[in-house]
Amino acid sequence: MKLFYGLVIHSKSIDDLRFLPNTALIVEHGKIVYIEESADVDKIQQQYQISPENVVVLKENEFLMPGMIDTHIHAPQYVNAGFGLELPLLGWLNKYTFPTEARFSDLNFANEVYTRVVANTLSNGTTTAMYFATIHKESALLLGDIAHQIGQRAFVGKVSMDQNSPDYYIEEKSSAIKEIEDFITTLQSKNYPNVQPVITPRFAITCSMELMKNLSELASKYNVNIQTHVSENPAECEVAVSLHEGCRDYVDIYAQANLLTAKTILAHGIYLSDDELEVLHKFQTSISHCPNSNCSIRSGMCDVRRLMMKGLHVGLGTDVSGGFNPSILDAMRFAITVSNILSLSKSEDYKPLNFKDVFFMSTLGGAQALGVGDKIGSFEIGKDFDALVINLSQTDGNLELWPNESIENRLSKWIHLGDDRTISRVYVHGVEVKEGASNILRVKRL
Ligand code: GUN
Ligand code: FE
Repeated sequence: MKLFYGLVIHSKSIDDLRFLPNTALIVEHGKIVYIEESADVDKIQQQYQISPENVVVLKENEFLMPGMIDTHIHAPQYVNAGFGLELPLLGWLNKYTFPTEARFSDLNFANEVYTRVVANTLSNGTTTAMYFATIHKESALLLGDIAHQIGQRAFVGKVSMDQNSPDYYIEEKSSAIKEIEDFITTLQSKNYPNVQPVITPRFAITCSMELMKNLSELASKYNVNIQTHVSENPAECEVAVSLHEGCRDYVDIYAQANLLTAKTILAHGIYLSDDELEVLHKFQTSISHCPNSNCSIRSGMCDVRRLMMKGLHVGLGTDVSGGFNPSILDAMRFAITVSNILSLSKSEDYKPLNFKDVFFMSTLGGAQALGVGDKIGSFEIGKDFDALVINLSQTDGNLELWPNESIENRLSKWIHLGDDRTISRVYVHGVEVKEGASNILRVKRL
């Protein structure tokens, strides 16, 4: 058992952010078993017979929050983070992304990159990541092994694509389904408690209808999540619909392929019509909002408020390397900025996203979008303990505190000005993992 005591911050819903001072929280076998506000810590420690080395008392400028959730990140594209942003989506895929992803047939290279992306995102507070790997089964399995070893909760997708892709980076139609079924059964047979396989058709341009239909059957056979991209860029939307005859719009392609489920998450969704949103709502399919990527490769600006008003769950994604920054704090800031810009051309009653909204989206909102809102994302008895200890007393960096600042303002400062140096401890399923991740990052390689 481990006892935490101090200021706890978490969201119960998008408009219910809780600041809980002097809170005691007990973790046993990775799960939250007790939580009490304004608690007498000494009494609780005695009552539950918790030894002193298992008590974490937070300092004056520290708080405990749920781990952050990246609902859309391409692990192999970590290599390209921060360059190649001058082309829009389709040109960018051909010039930078496909050649880089093709290199992951080399397991040594995959090992090097995947170790660093898992360590770096963990160190930045991403306790759960929804990953795209590449089309290579072995290296995608390796990503699962690495996430398990370093201690990140991960959904890992071996990418499926069987058309409109370069000769050097495409799957054989005859073996694509066997490959993904092998991937799912192999990863599931490892029984990693926090790592799950995900069905991952890349997007409607690079997947035949037959492949997508077969993938949807596997998703239901193995009860796994599904991830893909939707309606990211105007040229992409046009090509996608023109390739799939008989489909009304982009969402209809995935609807006809039976890929829309309550365990499906679609990245972007910038240009979705009201009809398309209604279909997604009917299937309880979620959206991953990736505002850095949408700005960096100039895909467009997604009106997240509109999606939420239609009843969709929306999480945040870094979308590395369309997005250049692997940190969810950066995704929160971009989400606020994009929403502020959109609000300039809306009526006065339009509410741009604020720091409380994006705090929710990066924690419980992300969990709900991935279909695991009953397991992670906030502190409730019975949920897994995925958490961060944030220390605002940085001696370097831009975050400076002044005396007597309210708790709300401190959280706002952290969201706008904090970085990985302020994330002093990271826990996944009750296990502290940041130190191991930081040690890996200290070793410069490549
Ligand atoms: N659409 C299809 N593939 C990709 C990808 O790798 N990144 C982004 N942002 N969009 C895509
Ligand atoms: Fe993406």
